[in-house]
Amino acid sequence: MDAEALGQLVSRIAEGSKFILVSNREPWLHERDTMGIKVLRPASGMVTALEPIIRATGGTWIAHGAGSADRLVTDHKDRIEVPPEKPAYVLKRVWLSKKEENGYYYGISNQTLWPLCHIVYTRPRFSREDWEIYRRVNQRFCDAVLEEAGSDPAIVFIQDYHLALLPRMLRTARPDLFLIHFWHIPWPNCEAFRILPWGEELLDGLLGNDILGFHIQYHCNNFMDTVERTIESRVDYEQFRIFRGGRPTHIRSFPISVDFHQIANDSESQRTRKSYDRIVKELGEGVLGTTVYAGVDRIDYTKGIPERVKAFDLMLKLHPEIHGKVTLLQLAAPSRTHIEDYRDINDKLDDLVDEVNWRHQTEEWTPVRFLRGHHDYYTVLASYKIADILLVTSLHDGMNLVAKEYVSARKKNPDGVLLLSQYTGASRDLQDALLVNPYDIEQMADMMYASFCMDNSERAERMSRMIKQVRRNTVYDWGAKIMRELEKILPTGGVR
Ligand code: G6P
Repeated sequence: MDAEALGQLVSRIAEGSKFILVSNREPWLHERDTMGIKVLRPASGMVTALEPIIRATGGTWIAHGAGSADRLVTDHKDRIEVPPEKPAYVLKRVWLSKKEENGYYYGISNQTLWPLCHIVYTRPRFSREDWEIYRRVNQRFCDAVLEEAGSDPAIVFIQDYHLALLPRMLRTARPDLFLIHFWHIPWPNCEAFRILPWGEELLDGLLGNDILGFHIQYHCNNFMDTVERTIESRVDYEQFRIFRGGRPTHIRSFPISVDFHQIANDSESQRTRKSYDRIVKELGEGVLGTTVYAGVDRIDYTKGIPERVKAFDLMLKLHPEIHGKVTLLQLAAPSRTHIEDYRDINDKLDDLVDEVNWRHQTEEWTPVRFLRGHHDYYTVLASYKIADILLVTSLHDGMNLVAKEYVSARKKNPDGVLLLSQYTGASRDLQDALLVNPYDIEQMADMMYASFCMDNSERAERMSRMIKQVRRNTVYDWGAKIMRELEKILPTGGVR
């Protein structure tokens, strides 16, 4: 399945009705800077995955306009055509006040639902005032979708935990719309979920959908179980659907992926080469003479970054013979820094990196290179080229697309090792990775050392099998699987 085939599939199923994608995070941000206005791609797995889909299908993407210059470039309907260099779809921005952003994004989305769903021992915070704002902002998104749909038939494809109440709002206003929702983060077990004071309302919101998707079957099972124990409904395990108020919500797993061919090609491009040279210049040529362990993450407490630095430190303690022969290169994008837990993890990382470097470094060798900042697409691809071993050590992750991007970027040289947390959705798909439990620092240190020692033929065999896996299951296959599921439940006569 490629972009063109997916575009055709969607046109056939949509039969001329509108295709509207909704998410909190926008795919392009316009920011003011000293030179004028610059356009940025946010660090978001969700955006990385959805951008190729909407390029293929066309339509409108509705999202929060979070960039400082966003308002300056949109028309009177808050719309702008993107991507900037080759417009393929419309981006419609929803404006939020500081107070709304605080309650809905920093509050409920990222201090309540994010920790609640990930279960990594960061306590969720509950504020009634924030919940009211979350509800109000979901209504704002609902108004934007309704305005965009007009009186036409439409398929609305909603993303993630920021918009859990939106499906029910849309269903009430426009029963004829087809609603699909993809939840990009884990769904917790019922014991973890039941402490949410507004659990019933949230579930009712999600049960406004026709299809609700998760990355893995385990999260579908958790969801079914949560609904059964929390809210009045008929839970049908035979067909994996839930009835609330007559119309069923189909619960399905769709493991998301990446645009394999695009990444493989872009990794060999001039722009990646330039970024590669720039990073090597910045780090010093010496780095290339070492085995590079790399990590590419948003700075988030779910990603297991301190754990990986500690494991690297332990490996150096246990194996003094590899001193000077290895480097840990961490690309780290600051994220959600208005939240205390995120500021804490930033501080913790600074201290940890200092300490490890202080312990082991010599005049010629700095073991940990920590590059904090917003790294563009080509810099990320270049870092995959540099990485002999890629570290994905999330404590919990819905999927983790960095792992699949790395595999795609190694198409030409299938010689890298992927060290992957067993608590990522990706670990179900990439079985030739070296799987680790990131809570177990000793085991992780052993696996890091095993990666260092792995011979070339085993590296190549494992990577080649993973390349085959990702090539056969790209993000277009993901989109197609969702659309085919929609096709199955459409009434005869289709969307119209
Ligand atoms: C996760 C979520 C996305 C989100 C991304 C980045 O991948 O599933 O919805 O966009 O994190 O987080 P941010 O808060 O910056 O959008």
